[in-house]
Amino acid sequence: MALPNINPTKTEAWKKLSDHFKDNKDINIKNLFKEANRKEAFSVQLNDLNVDFSKNRITKETLSLLVDLAKEVGLKQAVEAQFSGEIINATEGRAVLHTALRSTSEEPVFIDGKDIKPKIQTTLRKIRSFSNKVISGKWKGYTGKSITDVVNIGIGGSDLGPDMVVESLKFYKNHLNTHFVSNIDGDHVSEIIKNLNPETTLFVIVSKTFTTQETITNAETIKNWFLKSATIFDIPKHFVAVSTNLEAVDSFGIDKSNVFPMWNWVGGRFSLWSAVGLSISLSVGFDNYRALLDGAEKMDIHFRNEDFDKNIPVILALISVWYNNFYKAETEAVLPYSQYLSKLPSYLQQAIMESNGKGVDRNGDKIDYETGTIVWGSTGTNMQHAFMQLVHQGTKLIPSDFIGYKESLYGLTDHHKKLMANYNAQMDALAFGKTKEEVHLELKFSGDEDKINQLLPFKVFEGNRPSNAILFDKLTPQSLGKLIALYEHKIFTQGILWNIYSYDQFGVELGKELAKKLLKQQ
Ligand code: F6P
Repeated sequence: MALPNINPTKTEAWKKLSDHFKDNKDINIKNLFKEANRKEAFSVQLNDLNVDFSKNRITKETLSLLVDLAKEVGLKQAVEAQFSGEIINATEGRAVLHTALRSTSEEPVFIDGKDIKPKIQTTLRKIRSFSNKVISGKWKGYTGKSITDVVNIGIGGSDLGPDMVVESLKFYKNHLNTHFVSNIDGDHVSEIIKNLNPETTLFVIVSKTFTTQETITNAETIKNWFLKSATIFDIPKHFVAVSTNLEAVDSFGIDKSNVFPMWNWVGGRFSLWSAVGLSISLSVGFDNYRALLDGAEKMDIHFRNEDFDKNIPVILALISVWYNNFYKAETEAVLPYSQYLSKLPSYLQQAIMESNGKGVDRNGDKIDYETGTIVWGSTGTNMQHAFMQLVHQGTKLIPSDFIGYKESLYGLTDHHKKLMANYNAQMDALAFGKTKEEVHLELKFSGDEDKINQLLPFKVFEGNRPSNAILFDKLTPQSLGKLIALYEHKIFTQGILWNIYSYDQFGVELGKELAKKLLKQQ
């Protein structure tokens, strides 16, 4: 069963959506709220997660037409194709099975006639046993000392996911210091190793291909640094690898028993659920790592089974298409109200933009409609003092996801009340704005009557700026897993809607090739 191949703009639903857009494009969120129970009608609850998408330029009819679009492009069939291991990454001839990595169900998933579940379980056991040994101090370095520092060497999906999760779960962290080296810039690796002790440091080289220039260069530099104080016989105690390329790992000098497998059916940017997440398990312990996977599995089950009009990733994907393709919004913002999630926007930039930044459809034909959204963002409240001016009063429409938590982790309820007041206030301000009349009254009361004509236009907020409120009870490994999986499924859904292949990334190749050529000429 291949993916359906349907140009979305040629569907009945798209035609209806275009007419609906013509008739409703000047719709105002404030007016939509005159209808009773809008918030409840446009919210979905999934365990500890509530997604409120009421502050969007959509009516029930919009949503229903968008859902029709999802049905007409064969989303249901596509979801099944993905979960059951069909070769949906057709350009690379691979299945896409990050969902199998977190699945606890008995349902087998076959690749080339072989169930992959047993080898996933074996790898998880290996991650658990290795993490336990390192964390407990039983794993010793070459001078008999326990490990104090872990360095993840990787780039792109072999760096951004683990780095983001380790940062997001800092509250649950153990005594090990975790570092991430990614950039080819030698100053990056130098800054990291300058304070490390080779006797107590473990290096995790993560590269699906084990050919990535940045990772191999950094790994070689680190190995040379290590060998200044140790010998090649000490390497097994300090270097482990996560890869599909066992030959290259072997020639780097890594002991076979120190290799954690990776598989071609896991895309780099969806790989933190595989052994690529080893640094996560080392940093927060295997049980927390498993809880992350469990949270993702809960979202997988919801995505696979729930009707589209109550399906969180599907709804968010459809709303995003509504703005991208009909309102022609150029970008989307992701705004977590948690300092722990400071790395989420850059993680999502790779996941979203490497997946859906495609200009040809599944026939290989050039696309004449908009695809992949440009995504950016930063944490609240800091960003309120940085770029939010443009989001509130600028000329661009920027649909925004606000991610928040009902509870903070350390308590400090006074801080948290203020944080969440800002979280809600920003969304209200964006949606409802401030009218001329309100500004007029305000200036009058503040005694600035003579300045009214001069200041009034600058103080008006036109509002009608859309946002989604993604609210969890608490930041836990489980809820983080759910959040990441939510965005993964949103990406998949949008790829299906746009009739593109989301799981290849040929666009990153040309620059790599040219850099190699230039290097040879030097
Ligand atoms: O940037 C391209 C890319 O292939 C990403 O998709 C991937 O996550 C990254 O490079 C790293 O690749 P590898 O894990 O093979 O080193």
